[in-house]
Amino acid sequence: MSDVPDGVSGEMFAAALRAHGRAHAPYSGYSVGAAVRTPTGEIFAGCNVENAAYPLGNCAEQAALAAMVLGGGRTVVEVVVVTDGVTPGTPCGGCRQRIREFARPETLVHSTTVDGNVVTMTMQQMLPMSFGPDHLEPESK
Ligand code: THU
Repeated sequence: MSDVPDGVSGEMFAAALRAHGRAHAPYSGYSVGAAVRTPTGEIFAGCNVENAAYPLGNCAEQAALAAMVLGGGRTVVEVVVVTDGVTPGTPCGGCRQRIREFARPETLVHSTTVDGNVVTMTMQQMLPMSFGPDHLEPESK
């Protein structure tokens, strides 16, 4: 079992690490697992799923969010991503926006490696001045 990174819950890291182990990444060789936690404490995980037609691959964060939505969750309070390598792979630009859809500004995003390295940031730090569902609410139009 890998070391749990500083400041990361063991349960969230375990869920993301398990998902990392299920990744389908034969083309990049770069496995990613993600876990998201809702305010009620439910945890949903996902992994990257690549495709022989390369652009059709999906990111791990995307899969975790889809699992959450299917499970009835609509708010993310914490995200853990586990990647290969020495330097934690932070969420790609597209996934930052996908997480933004369900996150609060203070939502914590922990980017970790299997070896237990970690970079932690808030949603606001990860995607400043972002566009989100609040912009489409009547009072902000
Ligand atoms: N990947 C993710 O799953 N999440 C990210 O935020 C960045 C990249 C995946 C996509 C692809 O399967 C592999 O990592 C290499 O880019």
